[in-house]
Amino acid sequence: MTSCKALFSPTLTANLSKAASKGLLPSTATAAGLRAGCATFRPFDAQSRRHFSGSRKAQLDFFPPPKNLPHIKLTPPAWPHPEVTEDQLKSIEVGHREPDGFSDRVAYNSVRFLRWCTDLATGYRHDPNRPYIMSERKWLVRFIFLETVAGVPGMVAGMLRHLRSLRSMKRDNGWIETMLEDAYNERMHLLTFLKMAEPGWFMKFMILGAQGVFCNGFFLAYLVSPKACHRFVGYLEEEATKTYSFAIEDLEAGHLPGWKNLEAPEIAVKYWNMPEGHRSMKDLLYYVRADEAKHREIHHTLGNLNQAEDPNPFASEYKDDAKPHPSRGIEYIKTKGWEREDVI
Ligand SMILES: [Fe+2]
Ligand SMILES: [Fe+2]
Repeated sequence: MTSCKALFSPTLTANLSKAASKGLLPSTATAAGLRAGCATFRPFDAQSRRHFSGSRKAQLDFFPPPKNLPHIKLTPPAWPHPEVTEDQLKSIEVGHREPDGFSDRVAYNSVRFLRWCTDLATGYRHDPNRPYIMSERKWLVRFIFLETVAGVPGMVAGMLRHLRSLRSMKRDNGWIETMLEDAYNERMHLLTFLKMAEPGWFMKFMILGAQGVFCNGFFLAYLVSPKACHRFVGYLEEEATKTYSFAIEDLEAGHLPGWKNLEAPEIAVKYWNMPEGHRSMKDLLYYVRADEAKHREIHHTLGNLNQAEDPNPFASEYKDDAKPHPSRGIEYIKTKGWEREDVI
């Protein structure tokens, strides 16, 4: 058994090997430039050799089970995932909020530009009028690249609101925790997909560069206009919801045979509390898509609020609890976010 294989449960390893034999194994890296990062991005399997990879395999075992620690039994997640039903997962829709005003248009066009850059960087094309070029490997490249970026805004927004609360000596009214939970949830997406593939050195370099630019850019932009930044993330999450919806459609249409019988990694089963019989790759994509739709709702809603005074509607209790209202879960999810007059 290779050390790589030892990181996985026998079922998962067998599934990944099966998937690899059905075409998940990448071809030799021949492309240059940005695409080279994709070519060095290797889904795990028993035989895979890790050309161009700079990380030690042990680094990828992010959540090793406790190994007979003398005192600690378990370290549970800081934000357990809210329970969701199958109907709720299936009811998620792709949607778009029309930009309203100058800052909305700036936010929307920035996302469109970033999307174009990301499509180029990840070798993504999903056009029904052109030949199908996606594969399991290409989808994973896209997921991992997107998730490394998606985890940034929540942490930056949470940090800046935390600092503002400290220096102004005023309460934050519940926004910080939702922002940090958002970042945590995105990181769980990343850690889940990293159980299926490992980026090569070029991909890591791209991620480093993207994080450096995006984190600093978002930090400065949030200081200037937090409202526009939440709208920007709302549009970003519209794209994320679309990405996972397309991946689900492709999987259901039989374009991704390597994922047909692939089981979700153990980290995902535990985090989403995936029920027995609903622990496949397809189920996992439904869970992740619902999370992205939730982020879309949260940020579009926060983009509608008074940033300095309004309480966080997703962390509030309502006078009329029977009426649909924002919550941590997706029971009343709104594609375009909640309008201020409906929730505050
Ligand atoms: Fe995500
Ligand atoms: Fe997201």
